Parts: sequence; structure tokens; C-alpha cells
Amino acid sequence: MSNTIIVGLQWGDEGKGKIVDYLTERSDVVARAQGGSNAGHTVISGGQKYILHLVPSGILWPDKLNIIGNGVVIDPLGLLEEIAKLRSQGVTITPRNLLISEHAHLTLPYHRALDLAREKRRGVNKIGTTGRGIGPTYADKIERQGLRVTDLRDLSSLAAEIKWRAELHNQELMGAGAERIDVAAVVAEITSAAKQLQPHVANTVVVLNEAIAAGKHVLFEGAQGSYLDIDHGSYPFVTSSNTTAGGACTGSGVSPRKIDRVIGVAKAYTTRVGSGPFVCENENISDMLHGMGREFGSTTGRARRCGWLDAVLLRYAVMVNGCDEIAITNLDGLDGLDSVQICTHYELDGKTIKHPPATVAEMERCRAVCETHQGWKQDLSGITDGSQLPPKARAYLDRIAELAGARISLLGIGPARDQTLVLD
Ligand code: IMP
Repeated sequence: MSNTIIVGLQWGDEGKGKIVDYLTERSDVVARAQGGSNAGHTVISGGQKYILHLVPSGILWPDKLNIIGNGVVIDPLGLLEEIAKLRSQGVTITPRNLLISEHAHLTLPYHRALDLAREKRRGVNKIGTTGRGIGPTYADKIERQGLRVTDLRDLSSLAAEIKWRAELHNQELMGAGAERIDVAAVVAEITSAAKQLQPHVANTVVVLNEAIAAGKHVLFEGAQGSYLDIDHGSYPFVTSSNTTAGGACTGSGVSPRKIDRVIGVAKAYTTRVGSGPFVCENENISDMLHGMGREFGSTTGRARRCGWLDAVLLRYAVMVNGCDEIAITNLDGLDGLDSVQICTHYELDGKTIKHPPATVAEMERCRAVCETHQGWKQDLSGITDGSQLPPKARAYLDRIAELAGARISLLGIGPARDQTLVLD
């Protein structure tokens, strides 16, 4: 397989982890390039369920190299917890299969505290973050006052480097009426974590580029989705990184010229967690999916908001990411329905619009215009080949491809590794 970027085409939770896991078989290296422990990828393999936040999904395969790239924000305590949990499930993790970029920024306990305090201060205007400290960490990075993985190397200066930053943030925390961070405790925890993570630290830009030069195949595992992108998403209800395909290059140090394929992943319907506009939101679909035990977040456990497939969002995301192909996941979630709908365009103040508008106010005034398709009313979870798809399901997929402007190459019909069909 060539160098491939996997991106989410909606608001995250599209099932990227499963598609990455599936494509990993044909790859040598799996790299994360943005986001942090706000991501939650659920992968079911060998009957076991694994939840990954920072560790790339390739870790579940023997002999694959996994890289947490420079664009990721790393919570060292969370990462160690995640590694310990995976090891307890029998996954082998060593510096031979997991490397961490020395250039990546660190999420420290004060970032989490700031995330919660800032959300509280926003009141009704809160973003609905995952509370994992992502925004404050990226804010420190852009403000040029972040601490990086490379800073974990020098234990003689680490305490001083943490202290001034923690004191600075304590001023904001106390001003917001939040508890101040115990600086000595943070120094002790991070010093201990530094020692444990040290063997995994590398210049991953060099590792990745050398691997590509040697003919190895790299899979870039996107986290979150295109509409959570800081530039292209439904701002300000977004995350703080570039979740679209360009972010895979800046967040890994691999040139766009080295990328061969971009695969967008979308659910057969639409979901979002947290606040923000959602034109296709539909209570009946939410109730139906929640009733089936589906669509609860793997990071926070929150019930996701659900709606029909939004082809306006899909088409725009395919354009921004330059997707050659789409993987549609969770088609089986619609198995029991008499009919299914696709939103083909929006109406805004009496006018037809084909691209998502820039402001939240406009998005909230948009009305979804949908077309109806017959449901297939068949359990798809046992299908082993695309040729076995009922014609009505096939027609639904063909229409999605037509509206999105990209072919559908992969199809997810259940959570297990073998419930992914190659259509093309
Ligand atoms: P943050 O990334 O924690 O700052 O949260 C910002 C927004 O992105 C909130 O609406 C979150 O619910 C959403 N978000 C962040 N990560 C994910 C994800 O992995 N899946 C879905 N939504 C996410």
C-alpha cells in the first residue's frame, strides 16, 4: 500500500480506528499527527475491545511501527495509563513499536484544569470540550510557552520549566475561582513519567522520512473529523488542531508530495458530540440509535447527537481533503428502517445553498432538504462480500458517492475487524 491519509469527513467518531486497523495490514508504519487524548478510537479485534486515545491503532498488530507525531499534544500521564491498560490486555508495547516525537507538545495537569475552568466561564456559550486540556495545550503552543517532549530529557531543568508555567496558569485558575494546581505534585508526576517515556522519544520526522525513502508504507491516522478542524470546521465549536488532510503533513513532517492517497471516513448517517450547529439533527434517529446501544462517546461516554446523512457536509469535506475515496461505516445502524433519508442541500433564508455557511448563526438558520430512499430491512452484519448487499442498500451507497463526488471503496457493517467489505 502507498502512503495514505485517513481523515474523518464529519464531526469525529466516524469509525476511523476500525478502517485504520483494517488498512494497517498493508502498511508498515501508522502515524498520528494531530489531536490528543480527546480522540477515542474503539477497535474490536480477536473478540477483545480496545479503546485507544493517543496510541495509534497499529499497536494491535505485531511488527508495525507506531508513531505519535509532532502535531499531537501528549498527556504523559494519560499516555502511560493507556499503555498500562493495553499491556494488561496483552498488547506488547516497546520502543521498537511505539515512538513519540520529541517535537510534540505536552498536555500537563494545568491544561486540563484550564480547559474545565474556561468551559465553566463560557457558561451557555461553552464548546462542550472533552475536558482533556486540548485547547489550552495548543494555545500554549501557539503562544510559544508550551513544554515539549524534548524538555522531558533534561531532568535537571524540568522542575524549573514546569514551575513557571504552572504558576502562570495558577493565576488564571485562581482568578476563575478554580483550585490552584499543586506545582510540586505536578513536578513529581511528570518527572516520573519522563523517565518511563524516555526510551520511546525520537526525531520521528527523520524516522518517517527514512521509512518512506526505504519504500515503507505509512498510514496517517486522523483524529476527530473535518468539521472539528480549527480552520474548516464549525468554528468556534471545533477542536484546536487541523483535522483535515493538510494537518497530517504538518503534524508529521512528511511532505504533501509523499502522499499517494486520501481516504475519507463517514458514517452512513451523521453524529456529533458537544455543542454547535447540526443542520440534520433528528431526535427520532438519535432515540433509535441510542435504543440500539449505539452512539455513546468512547472518551466521555456522552450520548452523541444523531441525524440523517448530510451530503452537503460530505461533499465539502471531500473537496477540502482531496479524497480519492470514501469508507462508509455503520451502515448496519440503518438496517431496521422502512426508509432512509439523505440531505442533499440546505435552504438558508429562502435560498438553496450547497456548501456549509461560515457562521454558526447561518448554520442554525439552515433547513435540511432531504430525499427519501427505501430501506433494505435486512441484517447486514453477516455479509462477507459487497456482491451480497441488498439492491436498496447498494442504491443508497451509490447515491452517497454521487452526491459526495468520490467513490466508496470500503464499507463497515459491524464493529469487528472482519465486518469491513472492500467494494472497489
Ligand atoms: P476538545 O477537542 O476537547 O477541545 O473539544 C472540542 C470539540 O471537539 C467538542 O465538541 C468535542 O466534543 C469535540 N471532539 C474532540 N475530540 C473528539 C473526537 O474524537 N470525536 C468526536 N468529537 C470530538
